[in-house]
Amino acid sequence: MLFRKPYGIDLGSSTIKVYSSTKNKSYMTKNLIAHRGREIIAVGNEAYEMFEKTPASVQVEMPMTFGMIANVELEEISLYQMLRQIDPKSHRGGEVFFSVPMDTTAIEKNAYYRCVNGKWLRNNKVFLVEEPIADAIALGIPLEKNKGSMIVNLGAQSTSFSVIAEGKVIISRKVPIGGRQMNEAICNEIRKHYNLSIGTRTAKRLKTAIGRMHSDQPAARKIVGIDSLSGLPREEAISSEVVGEGLEDCLREIGREMKSFLERTPPQIAARIAYKGIYLTGGSSRIPDIQTYLEEATGYTYKLSGLYELSIIKGLERIIREPELRKWAAQLKPRKL
Ligand SMILES: Nc1ncnc2c1ncn2[C@@H]1O[C@H](COP(=O)(O)OP(=O)(O)OP(=O)(O)O)[C@@H](O)[C@H]1O
Ligand SMILES: [Mg+2]
Repeated sequence: MLFRKPYGIDLGSSTIKVYSSTKNKSYMTKNLIAHRGREIIAVGNEAYEMFEKTPASVQVEMPMTFGMIANVELEEISLYQMLRQIDPKSHRGGEVFFSVPMDTTAIEKNAYYRCVNGKWLRNNKVFLVEEPIADAIALGIPLEKNKGSMIVNLGAQSTSFSVIAEGKVIISRKVPIGGRQMNEAICNEIRKHYNLSIGTRTAKRLKTAIGRMHSDQPAARKIVGIDSLSGLPREEAISSEVVGEGLEDCLREIGREMKSFLERTPPQIAARIAYKGIYLTGGSSRIPDIQTYLEEATGYTYKLSGLYELSIIKGLERIIREPELRKWAAQLKPRKL
């Protein structure tokens, strides 16, 4: 059983994270494919380089939408390329541990099975782990003797709120707001304040360079955009306050959703969560001072995981490496639907 070494895979809307037990290492690549009709032009980070720069005949597509597999074939190609680079013999007869959102339907689960049992990737056994469980394991949150913990994962196209108690995810909700919506909100603010059109890649660069939720140390960054009136390129120094306004548009909505989620949480558990603090994780929890902003918006306190986009894959890594944690993974049998 040479190739039975398991893989952990977190299919994110913006990046795929893979843990290889053969290499004992995690890898990350953009979850994007550039194609012209049926001809694949670029996959992963290379496709991201082409994003918003391609001619009309070339499409750059995301195989995932709002944290769900939208195109099984493209997802399989993305994974095949990535696994082949990690380990050239990895694509057949292995075990794959996927993290999946809560409330995944049978059809959606089947998509996970099919994207590692298709044309290029074959004979793989599939195990599913609920995302909040993987996060909790990575964060060291006890699962069984737990009277209530809340985890918020801020991703690229979604934010999920989950409450864990007595070894179960007792309530969970995913809202379609994440880093991508923040990039779009930053584009809108820049159009409003500077009469300048920019692409979402530039907005993302601004977000990671000067995005923050406080204004005590304002910063600025020069970018080139297209003047909305003249249609000509123009250079402009964008202030961190304008970027912050874009971020706030999204975080205000997340805060509102979180409050209504907490109102639906059983009171004793909510009291426990208030006492312990809410865990924040996912790539978008990298925004400086996000916890202070959410504290003001919701009245709860927060703890940053410090693992950011890698928390789920760290949880899968532990499930693969520690036999006593395997019980949190359930094997998925293929189904004819
Ligand atoms: N320094 C940073 N500041 C703000 N946002 C950041 C920073 N670094 C990364 N991000 C954002 O984090 C997001 C990626 O996070 P993550 O990998 O958790 O998402 P995902 O798993 O791909 O998406 P999803 O969970 O929604 O399917 C991106 O939108 C990215 O712009
Ligand atoms: Mg994610």
